This record gives sequence, C-alpha cells and structure tokens, in this order.
Amino acid sequence: MTVLGQIVSGGFGELVARQKAGISLEIGELLISEAADKKVLLQVYNLQYGSQLSQQTRELVSGMKLEEENDLEILDPELRNYNLAFLKPLVSIDKKSAVLCKVLPNFFAQIRELQEKDISFLATPKNPISIGKLRSGSKALDFDVLIDGEKALTHHILIPAQTGKGKSNLAACMLWDALGRDYCGILVLDPHDEYYGRNKLGLKDHPGKKAVYYTINSPPAGAMTLKINVRSLKPSHFNGVISWSDPQREALYLYNRRYKSEWIERILLDDEPLEGINEGTLAVLKRRLQWLLSISLSDGQLYSDGVFDLTAGNTTISDICDDLEKGKVVIIDTSSLSGSVELLVGSMVCSEAFSRYRGHKRAGILHEKPVISVLLEEAPRVIGKEALERGPNIFSSIAREGRKFKIGLIAITQLPSLIPRDILANMNTKIVLGIEMAPERKAIIDSAAQDLSQDERAIAALDKGEAIITSHFTKFAIPVKIPLFEEVVKKAEKSKVKLAFPGLKG
Ligand SMILES: Nc1ncnc2c1ncn2[C@@H]1O[C@H](COP(=O)(O)OP(=O)(O)O)[C@@H](O)[C@H]1O
Ligand SMILES: [Mg+2]
Repeated sequence: MTVLGQIVSGGFGELVARQKAGISLEIGELLISEAADKKVLLQVYNLQYGSQLSQQTRELVSGMKLEEENDLEILDPELRNYNLAFLKPLVSIDKKSAVLCKVLPNFFAQIRELQEKDISFLATPKNPISIGKLRSGSKALDFDVLIDGEKALTHHILIPAQTGKGKSNLAACMLWDALGRDYCGILVLDPHDEYYGRNKLGLKDHPGKKAVYYTINSPPAGAMTLKINVRSLKPSHFNGVISWSDPQREALYLYNRRYKSEWIERILLDDEPLEGINEGTLAVLKRRLQWLLSISLSDGQLYSDGVFDLTAGNTTISDICDDLEKGKVVIIDTSSLSGSVELLVGSMVCSEAFSRYRGHKRAGILHEKPVISVLLEEAPRVIGKEALERGPNIFSSIAREGRKFKIGLIAITQLPSLIPRDILANMNTKIVLGIEMAPERKAIIDSAAQDLSQDERAIAALDKGEAIITSHFTKFAIPVKIPLFEEVVKKAEKSKVKLAFPGLKG
C-alpha cells in the first residue's frame, strides 16, 4: 500500500492532509483513509502549498538563488516544504455497505490510493444503466459505474454542459447501453441526426436489438419514413410548441369539437368561419397551420410536402408508442424539421404514451411495462421558465408528474439556469459535464442531490467526457469518465468477430 499523505488538520467536511513528497494529488482524486475499523472515502477538492518556513525566509532564499546564482538550498526541502490537499469525506465504508459519513477519520490517519475492493459496495442494480468508468481526478479506473436505470429514468436525468464537453457522446453511450436492455423504451428527438449513424458509427451498429429509426430524408434500408397523418393532431399537441392568442386557441378547440379528426382540413378548406369565430382569426389560423404543417392549398385542394400527410401515416404515432412499450429505442431524425415541428412530433408521441401509461396505471398493469424515457436536446425550449409562462405542455407535465406513470425525461441543456427551480430539483439524477459559466454551475449545485458546494472548481475544470453524477439513487456524487462512443462501437464489433471466429486473437 502506497501512502500518499497524512491527515493533519481540518474539521468535518474539510480535512487537510499533507501530501507525501514526490506524489502529486489532483483535484477530484479519490482516496481512502483507513485506521482501525474506520474506512472513509475521500475526495480532493483543493490544493495548496504549505511550508514550515516563513514567507520572508522563503522570499529571501529565492532571491539569493535568482539574483546571486547562489546554490544555497533549504535544509531538508522535502521536510520543510510540501503540498496540502483539502479533502471532503464522501462516504464511510463498512464491510459491504457505505453510509453517509458522520465521523471524522482518525487524526493523523494515513491516506492511500483507492482500490477496487474498496468500492465493492457499489453493487450492480437490478436494472442498471452504464454511464462510464469510475474516475479519480483525470484517471479512469477500471470499474464500471452502473446506476439504477429504472429509478433514474423515471425520475428524470439532466445532462447539463457547455457545447463540446461531450453531451451527445454521453447520450449515445447511454442509448447504446439501453439497446441491450429490456426494461426501458427511449424516444430520441435527434435534431442533429447524430445517433443512428447514417454515415458513421452509430446505434445502427449495435449487435443486439436494433434501434427504430424514423426520417424524412431518403430513409436508408430498414428505416421508416416519418409521415404523420394530420388527422392524428389534437389542439393540445400545440401546447408548448406555438403560442396562440385566446381567440385562436378557442377556435382550434371549436373546430376540433365540431369536426373531430377532420378539424385541420376544415380550418384550411372552409371559406366561412364557424359561428362565433372571427374571420380574421380563421385567416390567421389558416396561414399559421399551412406554414407549420407544410400544407398548401391550390384550386380548393390541399397538398402536403412535409412530415404531416393528408393520407398516409395513420398509425405512425401509435406504432412508435407500441415500440416504446416493447422497450425499444426509437430515434426520430428531426434534422430537417423546424424546431416547432420537432416539438410538435415529440408532443404527439409523448401525449399518446402518457395517456396509455395512465390507462395502464388505472388497470393495475403499469408494473409490467418498461419505463419510457424521452431524450430531448435544448430542453429549456419546453421546460424553461419562458416556455412555461405560456402554460403547461406535455413535457412539463412529464417533468412534474411523469414518475407516477413511469415516464421520464433525459433533458440535455447548456443552460440549466433557464429551467425553474422546482423542475430542476425534480430531475433527480444529473450527469454534470464541464460547465465554465458560473451561473449555470450555480443552478446545478443548488439543485443537486448531494452537497456539491466544494465542487465548483472541479465542475469548471471537467475535461471532455469527464462527469460527476449527482443522484438520489447514488450514495455520493460519483465522478465518472465517459468512454468515447466510437470506441464503444469498435470494441463491440471486435468482440463480435471474436465470437464468430473463436480461434482468432485480437
Ligand atoms: N468521453 C469522451 N472522450 C473523449 N472525447 C470526447 C468524449 N466526449 C466527447 N468527446 C469529444 O468532444 C467532441 C464534442 O462532443 P459532443 O458529444 O458532440 O459535445 P456536445 O454534444 O456537448 O456539444 C466529440 O466530437 C469528441 O471528439
Ligand atoms: Mg451535442
């Protein structure tokens, strides 16, 4: 056992250790202090110089060395000058379990490197989701971090980080892992068409279950064309997607009540408004719906050239929900759709899934169903403060009460501070990647499941793919290193080859 240092002062929550000469501890590094029967998992949160010599003496000695090229040395430099590491206790470890730390490690206790056997308390949950490898500072340890996927997904996952810090890569790794599991179905709204891997490695290369892929751009073999019948639309689907004035909304509901599923066609075709509706209102509805749904009118005929179709696509929404209920991953390529149409499609699927799961709950069969999770980029578009001022929408309903019905969000954002506090606090698992902007970090720290107040610096300094998981379903805020997605795929392909040719070495 290599001793890395020794605890010399401090108090609960902020221990100070003297670092052994020649060792270089890092911010974020995990350490163990073990004395008698007390074993505590510690993490470095700050580093500082320490010295036995006064500042004046140190300045004098440096001056002599610099100005007079004197090779005067300080007596026993290693003994007199050293580094101090500030540590916070994460958990105290019993034989097999870990509990929140309520005691101080022994005074003068020595600290050592973390070993695999120390963290055997991080047992594999029944329905896990793999996030990456345990990370100590910037070193990835050979230990998989698996969180309880069923709980985490129903209670929402937030992935906050600045652009380029690895949000999409993390999402791809999680989706890859989910493809190999049956307990969850995930709907992915993919505005960058980056997950399926049309022209690169992607989820399509998974050796097990296949992801279902909907796109409007010349679907590759095995993919589905994204066409949705306009008759599947209901006025409520527009909530959170576009804002209508009160008279406009009333008109939508009136048409829907009168003409049932044909309501959109009636609005677009009718020359005279229904009684009680202003002509101007009808004209605005016609214009906005034509634009939004890419439907045009010519010679009294409607033509569609977007996602929303006048004849095809009757079962698309229910097909997608069927797949989600079977625990599949469904990716919708929304790269060529406007943000509003992307959200509209998402809103239709989520509304259907939500109402099905409500029904399952009433019928007492919800426990037989997989969790459904909805992955959404730029989540503040629908669960941000500004969006919610326009009233609730299906995504905010999921954020607020989806857990009762086993439906959750995986919300990705660069700007968590735009999400109201109550919703942020409701997102019980946060996988925090690098965030340099202080107000964004603050929003996360203030709503984290564990006390991250000492981790400001660590969060700002997280490199690509380095993350901290703070969750109600983990014993402490776990530092992780996310693998690079392409490498995960290549590794799976290699082991597939090995399975096919067992003699092959590689
Ligand atoms: N875990 C990782 N390990 C190594 N490199 C990574 C990792 N995650 C991301 N990267 C690199 O950073 C780039 C940006 O990642 P990306 O996931 O697209 O970020 P974001 O979605 O947050 O903008 C990737 O192209 C990749 O090269
Ligand atoms: Mg991204």
